[in-house]
Amino acid sequence: MRHLLDIMDFSVVELQELIDCAMDIIAQPKKYAETCHGKKLATLFFEPSTRTRLSFEAAMYELGGNVLGFSDGSNSSAAKGESVSDTIEVVSCYADIIAMRHPKEGAPLVATRRTGVPIINAGDGGHCHPTQTLADLLTIHRELGRLDHLTIGLCGDLKFGRTVHSLIAAMSRYEGVRFVLISPEELRVPGYVINEIMEPAGVPYVEVRSLEEAMPELDVLYMTRIQRERFTNQEEYMRLKDSYVLTPEKMKTAKQEMRVLHPLPRVNEISVAVDDDPRAAYFRQALNGKYMRMALILKLLEVTV
Ligand code: CP
Repeated sequence: MRHLLDIMDFSVVELQELIDCAMDIIAQPKKYAETCHGKKLATLFFEPSTRTRLSFEAAMYELGGNVLGFSDGSNSSAAKGESVSDTIEVVSCYADIIAMRHPKEGAPLVATRRTGVPIINAGDGGHCHPTQTLADLLTIHRELGRLDHLTIGLCGDLKFGRTVHSLIAAMSRYEGVRFVLISPEELRVPGYVINEIMEPAGVPYVEVRSLEEAMPELDVLYMTRIQRERFTNQEEYMRLKDSYVLTPEKMKTAKQEMRVLHPLPRVNEISVAVDDDPRAAYFRQALNGKYMRMALILKLLEVTV
C-alpha cells in the first residue's frame, strides 16, 4: 500500500505517469467515469480549504466514487479531544482512501501508522503540500511543454509556504532547472530546504529581494500569499503582507512565454488586472489540480484502466 506524504515519495518516472494519466483523463473523461465505482474517499480537513478539498471531492465523483468527511475539525470529535491516530483508525473502517489536511507538521505521517488505507497529505502546517505540486507540474507541462531547463522564480512567503517547499523538491530533480528565490529577509526559504534538497541536488539558486529585477529572466513566476495564519507576531505580518504585488506594469518586463502560477487563495499579491493576461495560469492551475488528484486516486487505489 502506498501513501503520498511528500512529493519525494514518487519518482520522476511516477510523476510523469501521473501527468500522462491526467492528460488521458482530459482527453477521454468518459473512459474514467466509473473506474472508482463503489469506492469511498474521506476528506478530513482540520484546516480551511477551498481548492484542495473540493477538487479532491470533484475528482472522486468524476471517477464514479463517493465522498465522506468533514471540512472543519471543530465539527469532528477532535473537538472533544480525540487524537489524529484514533480518528484515522476509525475513518479507515469507513473509507477506501483518506485525504487529510492538518495544521501540525507530520500529522499525516502519524496517520499512516494507524490506517489500513492510503493516506494523502493535503497540506501539513508549513511543511509540505504534495498534491498542490502535482497540480503545479501538470500546469507547467501543459503551459510550457517541458519540466526541464526552466528558470523558476518563487516569490513571497518562502519560509512558511508549504507549496514552495514541495515544488522546490520536485523541480530539483529535473535537468537544467534553476531557482530565483524572491522574498523579504524574514521569509527566506528554510535552511533544511537549501541544505537537504537544493544543495545535494546541485541545483543553482539565488536569493534576491527584488521581483522587478528578477522578472525578465523567469520562465515561471510562482507567486505566494503572505500567510497571516502562520505568524505568531501580527505586527510582523502587517509589516510584510504587501511586500510584493504583481501588476500589469511589472508584467511588461516578463518574457512573452513566461507563466504566472499561484497555488491560491490570493489576497493582494496579484492585482486582478493581471488575470486577463494570457500568461496568468493560476485558474487553469486550479483546474489541473482536479485532474492530477483523479490520477493520484487511481494510482493509490491501484485501479487499472
Ligand atoms: N492551494 C490550496 O491549497 O488551496 P486551498 O487552501 O483552498 O485548498
